[in-house]
Amino acid sequence: MNLSLPHDDAAPEARRAALAADREVWRFDPTQRGLPLAAKVDSESYSMAFGLRYVETSTMLAATRAAALDPGWARAPGPPGGAAAPGRPAQEGGVTRAGMVSVRSIDHYDALFDTLPSPAYRAWAQDDGFFAWQRLAGCNATHIRRQREADPRFPVTDAQLRAAVGEGDSLDRARAEGRLFALDLSALHGIPQGATQGRARYSSGVLALFVRALDGSFRPVAIQGSPVAGSPIVTPADGERWRHAKLDVQVADSVWAGAVMHLGFHSLSAAFQVCAARELAPNHPLRRLLWPHFEMTTAANETMKDAVIGPGGFFDELMAPTREAAVDLAVRGLRERPLGDRAPWRDLALRGADDAVRCPSTPTATTACPWRGPFAAGSRPTSGSGTATTPTSRETPSSSPGTGP
Ligand SMILES: [Fe+2]
Repeated sequence: MNLSLPHDDAAPEARRAALAADREVWRFDPTQRGLPLAAKVDSESYSMAFGLRYVETSTMLAATRAAALDPGWARAPGPPGGAAAPGRPAQEGGVTRAGMVSVRSIDHYDALFDTLPSPAYRAWAQDDGFFAWQRLAGCNATHIRRQREADPRFPVTDAQLRAAVGEGDSLDRARAEGRLFALDLSALHGIPQGATQGRARYSSGVLALFVRALDGSFRPVAIQGSPVAGSPIVTPADGERWRHAKLDVQVADSVWAGAVMHLGFHSLSAAFQVCAARELAPNHPLRRLLWPHFEMTTAANETMKDAVIGPGGFFDELMAPTREAAVDLAVRGLRERPLGDRAPWRDLALRGADDAVRCPSTPTATTACPWRGPFAAGSRPTSGSGTATTPTSRETPSSSPGTGP
């Protein structure tokens, strides 16, 4: 295929015909609550190797569920600090109904990892430093941002800061020195919550504050479970309430990661693919450049429509909000974040994370700043505006994707 731009094509009729044919195939799926996913396209399928891996993973998960259904499979919690006692139910009365485990303790969650591979961080699960580190290098490492002004909804005090990190520091000083960081998940506040087999699920619009302390460590300072002013503020000095508050953050963070980031990016990829197929002829150089990046996008998204966001899918089972609310959150995330703000240099600047000197370091201290990467200040392009990029190479004037030419 000879690549050419529209005005250089020696066969303009053939080009128009190819583009018209693609517009018959590539459309948006109007049934996905506003997610810009492609309508089904029979162009790709999973490889045999991937299919085998899927069977292997499904088998492992089935074994885990079997272990959860039969407490005899699971490790019983031993005495505090002692070895586990095998052969006894993991939790008395723990299995209450078919297909469902009543998880009443951290030990019960631990027992699940007798069949699943254990995460490397399991031993640190309750560590405050690790909790903070997850905000920088966990499943959702791009939401925390430097706090430049106090948040009136979340009036943390100097006494609470000192309860978290000791004497000698203050909020004003930490903020002035660029050492305060906020995690704002208030977008989850008030959204409908789901239920699994009759049991309510919970997530909340939590706010959390972190500091790079004077000793250089990155620490959590305080958590507020709701953006409503006057809600209780919890600090590391609050024992079990602190542990629950951290769980609130983890739940909200995982909802954000799963819905807004993961599902959002699946959908954004699909939007680019549909637009590329509808607006750029197959021999357009830009389409040829983009197309390898879309490999398996439609196949994965077709699976996702059923297995993840469809009725009875993973969102229905695992997300705290209802499936519909989680998808709506993803749509909102796409609409409220301009494309230009997603450029790495722009994103880092908006989060106040483009400063290598003041950025928190990882516990392992293997790098000066985990937020940096190849996009260091000074090497970035000069056009970092927040406006969406205007396409300059489209084949034709704007048409309405999904409605056909
Ligand atoms: Fe994915």
